[in-house]
Amino acid sequence: MTPTKRDILSAADLGRGELENLLELAQRTKGKRQSQVLAGRTLGLLFFDRSLRTRVSFEVAATQLGAHCLNIFADREIYDLEQVERAVMDGHAEEHVKDAARTLSRYVDLLGVRKLSRTGSWEEDRAEQLLRSYAKYADVPVVNLESTMEHPCQAIADVMTMQEHLTSLKGRRFTLAWSMNPEPKNMGPCHSVLQLAARLGMEVTLAHPLGFELDKDIVEQASRDAADSGGQVRVVNELEAGVQDAEVVYTRSWGSTRYWSDPEREIMVKRSLQSWIFDEATMARTANALFMHPLPVRRGVGATDAVLDGPRSVIYDQAENRVYAQKALLTHLLG
Ligand code: CP
Repeated sequence: MTPTKRDILSAADLGRGELENLLELAQRTKGKRQSQVLAGRTLGLLFFDRSLRTRVSFEVAATQLGAHCLNIFADREIYDLEQVERAVMDGHAEEHVKDAARTLSRYVDLLGVRKLSRTGSWEEDRAEQLLRSYAKYADVPVVNLESTMEHPCQAIADVMTMQEHLTSLKGRRFTLAWSMNPEPKNMGPCHSVLQLAARLGMEVTLAHPLGFELDKDIVEQASRDAADSGGQVRVVNELEAGVQDAEVVYTRSWGSTRYWSDPEREIMVKRSLQSWIFDEATMARTANALFMHPLPVRRGVGATDAVLDGPRSVIYDQAENRVYAQKALLTHLLG
């Protein structure tokens, strides 16, 4: 096993000091394209689900560092994988994840995995077995490119974007709010940005309808981290109260753990939640807040064009900063 192997599967894998160093490096290298710090290195990124920003921004980051990036569309380009230890593989899976991870480790210097799951079992999906199996068996660092529970690379870019606009984040009022989407979505970006905002001492308001609670363990840990950093996490179940006087609002839809096994019921419940949209009236309640969304967004459903294209929207800064946040992360893990 490589002695320096280090996996980034969750925002929890980044301590406060390490996060601050990453943010400083990302900001310092922003705009400085040429570097050969990872010359001769190869990244292997496994996409079991679709992506625009993560795929392209990692490829650009790798190119700017002199590395090569292999994007593997894993759902159709590699074999169906067995994940159960000591399985007798007489079903449809042709390869064990153990063999895939160990083989890929002989070819590439870092593996990335994007895998979202909605099997109907919240306990099964929150365990993220495929991602964690890759991390267990790979001999090279494994980075989560978005899972059901986490999207740490997005969250690093998100806090970098907030810092660019607010400088210090400690004590700043940050609202993370659920918004409407007809599709059941994962929690990844929201869990990860919640943890990092709390760790940096922000005053976090988590706003969502009843039944759309985020994962209890993550919210409790974020509350403890916020308290340790001089901030707090409070939860409200009304959008208007949630955004009141916020300095930053961050929105995205996420699925209901209550209805995780019954997506049809979730769709029905959401028919009464159309008012969870970021429009100009919602933004008028804030303290002229920055508007953030990790994208993709359904215009006119989760947020209006006026807000998304408005003067306080930083959605493309977030997307752009994925390149610099990931350059910093790759340099940290491999440089
Ligand atoms: N925000 C984000 O990860 O976008 P993609 O799904 O396009 O990668």
